[in-house]
Amino acid sequence: MSDIEAIKDKYLAQVASASDGDALEAIRVAALGKKGEISLLLKTLGQMTPEERQTEGPKINGTRQAVADAIASRKESMEADVLNAQLATEKLDLTLPPLSAPKGSIHPVSQVMDELAEIFADLGFSVETGPEIEDDWHNFTALNIPETHPARAMHDTFYFPQTDENDMPKMLRTHTSPVQIRTMMDVAKRSSGEGEPIHIIAPGRTYRSDSDATHTPMFHQVEGLVIDKGIHMGHLKWTLETFVRAFFERDDITLRLRPSYFPFTEPSAEVDLGFTVEKRKRIIGGDPRSENGGWMEILGSGMVHPNVIANCGLDPEVWQGFAFGCGIDRLAMLKYGMDDLRAFFDGDLRWADHYGFDALDVPTLSGGVGA
Ligand code: DAH
Repeated sequence: MSDIEAIKDKYLAQVASASDGDALEAIRVAALGKKGEISLLLKTLGQMTPEERQTEGPKINGTRQAVADAIASRKESMEADVLNAQLATEKLDLTLPPLSAPKGSIHPVSQVMDELAEIFADLGFSVETGPEIEDDWHNFTALNIPETHPARAMHDTFYFPQTDENDMPKMLRTHTSPVQIRTMMDVAKRSSGEGEPIHIIAPGRTYRSDSDATHTPMFHQVEGLVIDKGIHMGHLKWTLETFVRAFFERDDITLRLRPSYFPFTEPSAEVDLGFTVEKRKRIIGGDPRSENGGWMEILGSGMVHPNVIANCGLDPEVWQGFAFGCGIDRLAMLKYGMDDLRAFFDGDLRWADHYGFDALDVPTLSGGVGA
């Protein structure tokens, strides 16, 4: 057997017994690499006589081709073996549930705002909004809180460093009450001072420099305003009672109106919600005068002060009304059982998953058309 035959048999045998891709690659380099044994043999063709080249050339080239083919086919069969082994051990379980796509939820504050809008819409109220950056006139002065009034100090206002074009202070609104002013002024302007009935709620963000378990620098209020002829405290009480019964979904809820003071209402009343205790849990409703029963404050209200009506360009001799302002976050906490307000605005998705509402389950405005 010639040398070249021996070389060919050697490499074909190595290829046949190669255990993996690395071993195969080592054989390829040894035989066919730049300095491989067969490559070097090919280079010797140049020094041969034409006769020698005629007999040796096909042999060496044939050997190169045979080894290259053997490596290629061995590689292919190795790859097939790997795939077959994988197919034999891995199983696809078609009965497993699919991975669910991450899904957002409706924040409890948005949910409660929608509930408010729905309940008050049934009572003939529309929703108004106003800017969160307010001026002195709308946030304080028009609400009968003049510059020197001590009530200003109670609001822990976030003021802007710059004043407005009239050199008056600008601030983040400390309550939703300025929306009352904007609405009445719009009506006065539209009707040239004539006036027309108003039934609005104004939910939205409000700001005060305050922070603990029940206060955050940004929070939410809903303002209510009714202006009409012959409006009295009875209308206020009925409206609030109807609202809390619809909101907390209980007919046995009682309200207590306690005399209070707000510059923008006269008389003013703080409104308390009657609760009882069932299984050591506070339940809104029942007889608040029973053992363990009691009252908790939920909002401020009153008859709109004649000065406020006049400040907006309407005649307080013709138009009267009531107003109220209520914390929305607290309503959400009471209805849905959270105890730390700060968690509302931390943006923790675990909290949102737990307390949020499924967009397709709740039939409210944010909640779409489900159920
Ligand atoms: N603006 C008041 C506050 O933030 C709440 C309030 C009380 C609003 C009485 C009213 C009202 O409209 O009549 O503390």
